[in-house]
Parts: sequence; C-alpha cells; structure tokens
Amino acid sequence: MKLINFGSMNYDKVYRVPGIVKPGETITAHSLTTFFGGKGLNQSVALARAGAKVYHAGLVGTDGAPLKEFLRENGVDVSLIETAKVENGQAIIQVDDSGQNSIFLFPGSNRAVTPIFAGNVLCYFEEGDYILLQNEISSLGEIIKIARERGMKIILNPSPFDEHLDSCDLSAVDTFLLNEVEGEAVSGTSDPKRMADAILEQYPKSHVVLTLGKQGVLYKDASHSASHGIFEMPVIDTTAAGDTFTGYYIAGMLEGQPVESALRLASMAAALAVSREGAAPSIPLRAEVDAALEQQK
Ligand code: RIB
Repeated sequence: MKLINFGSMNYDKVYRVPGIVKPGETITAHSLTTFFGGKGLNQSVALARAGAKVYHAGLVGTDGAPLKEFLRENGVDVSLIETAKVENGQAIIQVDDSGQNSIFLFPGSNRAVTPIFAGNVLCYFEEGDYILLQNEISSLGEIIKIARERGMKIILNPSPFDEHLDSCDLSAVDTFLLNEVEGEAVSGTSDPKRMADAILEQYPKSHVVLTLGKQGVLYKDASHSASHGIFEMPVIDTTAAGDTFTGYYIAGMLEGQPVESALRLASMAAALAVSREGAAPSIPLRAEVDAALEQQK
C-alpha cells in the first residue's frame, strides 16, 4: 500500500501584526519572516515526521527548488514533483498578538497542475493505495476522477473551501477531514452536532473527522463514533495546526491504530504546532509528540 499527497507548496510570508488589518486601515507589522508552507507541503511534512512513508506530487515554480529540497530533507519522496515555468505559490499571512491568523493566497505554480500531469503521476498508483488531497491545486476534480478509476482510497481535506470543489465528485471520497467552516459547506448545516451525520447521509460509506477548535474533534462512520478534547498549550501561531492534525491522524490510521488513539496522537501534534511559530517549521517530530503524550499519563 502506497500513500501519495498531491498538493500545494507555498512560500509563506508571515507578518506579525498587532491586529489583523481591517478594510481601509493601514498598520505596521512587527516583523516579516518567510517560511515553507502550503497545505500540501505541511501535510506531507506532518506525515513524514509522524513516521509515514509519503510521496508528494505537485508543481513548484521556477523559484521553488528550496521547497522541494525541504520536503526531501524531511524524508518525503519528491520524485513526483515537477517545475512549472511560472512563479511559485505564496501565502500572505498576518498573525496577530493572540496567535490568530488571516491568509490570502497567490496560487502560482499550484494552479498550473493539469489533468495530463495528474494522469502521469497517478499511473504509479493502484487499487488500495491512498491519495491525500486539499483544495489549493488545479484539476482537483480530474485527480479525484482518475484516483477513483484506479481504485485508490481518497482522503480529502476540502480546505480552503471554495467554488473549485463544485466540480469534484465527493461521493468518491473515503475519508473527509474538515473543520467547522468546511463541515458546514459540505453538510449544509451550521449545527456542529449535526454535521457528521449530515455528511454520512449524503456519503454513507465515508469516514468523517471533524475538528471543532476548542471543542476538540469528532469522528463518525456508519458504525462507529469517537471524540477527543484539545490539549491546552500556549498559543503562539495557529498556522498549520490543522495540517499537522491531518498528517498525524492519517499516519496513526495507516499504522492501524484505533480511531481514538489516532485522534489523541493528532490532537497532541496539533497542540504542539500551535505553541510554535510558522507553518512547516512548527510541525513536531514523532518523538516529541510521544513524549508529550507520555507526560499526560
Ligand atoms: O494551512 C496553512 C497553510 O495555508 C499555510 O502554510 C499557507 O501556505 C496556506 O496554504
């Protein structure tokens, strides 16, 4: 069984600001730092740091070689990353004094992914292999279609939720990993207690993992449900906390851990990520997560 993450790679320009800028307002940032990020890259790094073997597929821009090198250094297989003749994707991120963020994306190379590139990548994968997807690359609908035709298990983190998901056949998804905003968009209900059930009514064979911020996380499939609370940590920067949760949850799942243990592992990894600055650099190593869980006993 192989795992591929077909996803974005961004340069994150992180501005520490006293408060998120409002329309018409001008503010001065405390600092500017460039980190490696992108939901795709962050989730591959989280998977690799959790101990999973993962292939990352996607497109960097002509200025994107350091992103590929960073993934390689983290133990991710980068043989399916190619270079597009455009500028690399970027995220402009404001982080305020309470650690909350606000992001806008310049997609660049991430939206140069074509169905032909997707077909070339996915021919290396077969029935029973897993594919992890987010919504920061182009041709997502085609990738889902090809992965389904090849009998792959599709894990979707529909983030950020926007109109590009309209062209995706969500009935092909095996596991949804979503937050409250994405949960509302997929389920059609704003009541967090109803979201997982509403998704299962539409997609009865799927598995739903719903992160609810301070309320923790819920899991539900047709025959089983579980939940886990958050681990309290000082909040420095929430960027990539969801990506860390996603990578660690999938790693736990692929290790064959019971859902409850995978939720616990992922919740601690996300809590540690929140207590550190940046996107990919904030993702903890497995040994750090295991040690922190041990201290809880
Ligand atoms: O989820 C966090 C990520 O979202 C950042 O790294 C940024 O690149 C955006 O894609």
